[in-house]
Amino acid sequence: MAEARPGPTYLGPASLLGDRAITPVRVGGRQLILVRDGTRIVAAERACPHEGADLSLGRCAAGRLHCPRHQASFDLRDGSVSPGWSFRALRLSPVAVRPDGLWVSLA
Ligand code: FES
Repeated sequence: MAEARPGPTYLGPASLLGDRAITPVRVGGRQLILVRDGTRIVAAERACPHEGADLSLGRCAAGRLHCPRHQASFDLRDGSVSPGWSFRALRLSPVAVRPDGLWVSLA
């Protein structure tokens, strides 16, 4: 479990995600998921902003994260929700891939 401190937080080695598209992690008491979108990795809150479904059970396709409960989807560039939904955007945090591993800058 990574500690939350000011500035970027170390998550683990670059191999942390393995071949998974979505990996749950805990950072300083926050439940997050790491989502691989092509070569890019982004961190997102784990609970869906609609009714709290576990987004680690969702799927990632074409730059969007799909919630497993009601199938709303989120743009992995800005967290915006798919048309037809009126709840807030998914909170995202950038993840940097450095020679020593993965670092997240919490929003
Ligand atoms: S709980 Fe995620 S779309 Fe409803």
